[in-house]
Amino acid sequence: MPSLSDATRGRVLFGGDYNPEQWPEEIWPEDARLMKEAGVTSVTVGVFSWARIEPRPGVRDFGWLDRLMDLLHGSGIGVVLATPTASPPPWMGSLHPETLPRDEDGRTVWWGSRQHFCPSSPVYRRYAAALAEDLAGRYGGHPALAMWHINNEYCTHCWCDETARHFRRWLRARHGTLDALNESWGTSFWSQRYDSWEEIIPPRRAQYTKNPGQVLDFKRFTSDALLECYEAERDIVARHSPRVPVTTNFMPLWSGQDAWKWAEREDVVSVDVYPDPKDPYRGQYNAMLGDMTRSQARGPWALMEQAAGAVNWRGVNHPKPRGLNRLLSLQSVAHGADVICYFQWRQSRQGAEKFHSGMLSHAGERGRAFQEVKRIGAELAALGPHVAGTALTAEVVVLHDWDSWWADQQDGRPSELVEYTELVRAWHRALWESNIPVDFARPDHDLSGYRLILVPHLYLLGDRAIENLVRYVRDGSTLVCGFLTGVADEDDRVRPGGMDARLRELFGIGTVHEWWPRAAGEQVRCDGFLAGLWSEELELSTGEPVARYRDGELAGLPAVVRNGRAWYVSTLPEPAALRALLAEAADGAGVRPVLAGLPAGVEAVRRGELLFLLNHAPTAVTAPVAGRHRELLGGRTVDGAVELERYGVAVLRELPSDPAAPRAGGG
Ligand code: GLA
Repeated sequence: MPSLSDATRGRVLFGGDYNPEQWPEEIWPEDARLMKEAGVTSVTVGVFSWARIEPRPGVRDFGWLDRLMDLLHGSGIGVVLATPTASPPPWMGSLHPETLPRDEDGRTVWWGSRQHFCPSSPVYRRYAAALAEDLAGRYGGHPALAMWHINNEYCTHCWCDETARHFRRWLRARHGTLDALNESWGTSFWSQRYDSWEEIIPPRRAQYTKNPGQVLDFKRFTSDALLECYEAERDIVARHSPRVPVTTNFMPLWSGQDAWKWAEREDVVSVDVYPDPKDPYRGQYNAMLGDMTRSQARGPWALMEQAAGAVNWRGVNHPKPRGLNRLLSLQSVAHGADVICYFQWRQSRQGAEKFHSGMLSHAGERGRAFQEVKRIGAELAALGPHVAGTALTAEVVVLHDWDSWWADQQDGRPSELVEYTELVRAWHRALWESNIPVDFARPDHDLSGYRLILVPHLYLLGDRAIENLVRYVRDGSTLVCGFLTGVADEDDRVRPGGMDARLRELFGIGTVHEWWPRAAGEQVRCDGFLAGLWSEELELSTGEPVARYRDGELAGLPAVVRNGRAWYVSTLPEPAALRALLAEAADGAGVRPVLAGLPAGVEAVRRGELLFLLNHAPTAVTAPVAGRHRELLGGRTVDGAVELERYGVAVLRELPSDPAAPRAGGG
């Protein structure tokens, strides 16, 4: 099977989405020249080119793409070639209205934007396959071809009749019999029992709260239906070019695709990451998505899209301050990326994204965006041979799971304030601020090799996952679990006792009497810290209270419980307290930070032989680093400490110590 290294060949790929069909052809040579100047190694072409390639059903116009591929190849620029199947041309919906998605209310989602296809539509799939076939037949052997990029951010949902038929087939395969389905969905409640498969529909608009089992299965089904679309196109292009890796770009914190499952079916795991420049923890966000994607890829991954400056889809779209694009790009490399790309190369003048930044902004080659891009391109070219293909090691793993996330999004829960991704972020941030490297994993994965297992919040846990956790603790790992974990089984059925009995035994919890969600902004005092969002009325068996609630109804009851190597945190401690708690658990498990004693805001990451120091603070700092190092970006020797400008980065490689010189201090 091909892999990312077949595309990178010892480099860090650098580039972005290139949409030349938006521009007169006379501009293309200038694009190629400026790409060279910026150190671009590859561009993603064709993502939204369906109407250009197939202007009428079955007709092909490849002439422009032939010329473009040759031009790029002649300039030494590789092509990540996309199957343009994310945005069917208007003729498709017009001739075949059944290819258009229907929303929950049965309303048609029309063409005129993008992603307007029903993933279950055989007609859509037939056209998409034919196009992939011709594209791969024509360019599968082209020397510019570096990677295949299937579709784009698979994210459509559809509730149409074709989807209903497809959903029923999927349900038959999952449940086997109607009785099993009725049992799984708990249809005895509210007279929902199904007597025939034909009665089953996708969870469309309903009078009141929908059946949670049906909604959960529909989320699983939709992810699988999209995956079928991906795999069909993947198989076609792979048949034409078996040595060229295939990917599709994920939206990482979008729940619609079970990325663990998808990643297993990709040669390269790629992702689009858009931290908000205004978010004070944008660096943590970027790090977390890098850690997640690296874990899904089980090695180097591709940052397929980021923004050189502002996006255009937030309420207020802030540009990146000077230096931030470089910092976040190098941070992604530190977290395992071997591809650093943008949406998009040349900022559009028309269309829905004309205010979205580009590598080459409206300000042109003299613009700040392009000047910064040039610097990043040059630095990645220098770093590539040292970093491409190298690994990171982590002794801490954060468990993350789509089934649980989906079940968590249901209506009718104890608190709508509990937001799964926010909890994952809060726990990751605690580790990130301590410079403790983390991987992510699914709870039923092989977790051997991790000293510390963290579960920020997994409301739904299957039996295999629970047995996994129990076994790893028994075998010597430390486990810290956040609140409302292990409550439901795979069918979203609440386990007796409000938490799985094996987990209660593990944490030394006798009874979970009540959940006490907290109001927005409400704080609860615990021994030594403030907490919020959630609390629980627990009665312990063998567990020891590490901290108790101090306020109100729960005063005196345990807030944080410890039973040997298993910890249970029944609330959300304020960030400093969560950091201290997880640092204590890490320390007890024998996990050490990459570097200690760094100034606030400085992140330290080790990848391969390199030590990345990343200054997320808006002021210059001096970071102590023991020993002598070669700084690879500036080409200087660093001895004992390194100066980092605001948003500055140093990439260090240790030098053999000079026996004549006294050793300088530092952490
Ligand atoms: C996504 C898409 C791109 C573009 C960007 C804008 O990542 O894949 O086509 O729309 O968003 O941020």
